Amino acid sequence: MHMELKKCTKKYWEFIRILRNDKRVLDGFIKSTYITKEMQEKYMQDYSKFYRVALLNNQPCGYVGVIEDDIRICTHPDFQGRGVGKFMLKEIMNIFPTAYGKVKVDNEASKKLFSSVGFTKKFIIFEYDKN
Ligand SMILES: CC(C)(COP(=O)(O)OP(=O)(O)OC[C@H]1O[C@@H](n2cnc3c(N)ncnc32)[C@H](O)[C@@H]1OP(=O)(O)O)[C@@H](O)C(=O)NCCC(=O)NCCS
Repeated sequence: MHMELKKCTKKYWEFIRILRNDKRVLDGFIKSTYITKEMQEKYMQDYSKFYRVALLNNQPCGYVGVIEDDIRICTHPDFQGRGVGKFMLKEIMNIFPTAYGKVKVDNEASKKLFSSVGFTKKFIIFEYDKN
């Protein structure tokens, strides 16, 4: 099995968009806005330089991005639980060493992932519950 982290060139933008919109991963993210092709194109023109794509035997299986030190990371459901997330997170910390993860309290996979790479819990964000 050959795993590598590649720059996010245009050929990967649609992979990221489809994965980011996938109902199976949506719950893990703080924002769950549906991303259209147009939105993705516009966003990636500015921000793709901050993203990387993981390839497993040349097949895209996940992505990681760091915008203003804030990490966004996702492994395609077909490849989860095989060390892809850990690989991406370790690699991205070599590129953005001060990056951090903002993780939802109920996102067990993500909490486990960050802990397994050596991150520790430092802050808790309180949101006002209007209900
Ligand atoms: C979080 C996520 C990126 C993890 O990716 P992954 O490739 O499955 O992670 P790995 O296989 O590298 O596993 C890393 C660690 O997390 C643990 N883990 C992974 N999925 C888990 C799950 N569903 N429940 C509990 N632990 C889990 C693994 O056992 C491993 O721990 P270990 O090293 O102690 O064995 C993936 O679940 C995902 O894409 N989720 C949806 C999007 C998301 O929530 N992104 C994070 C936003 S902050």
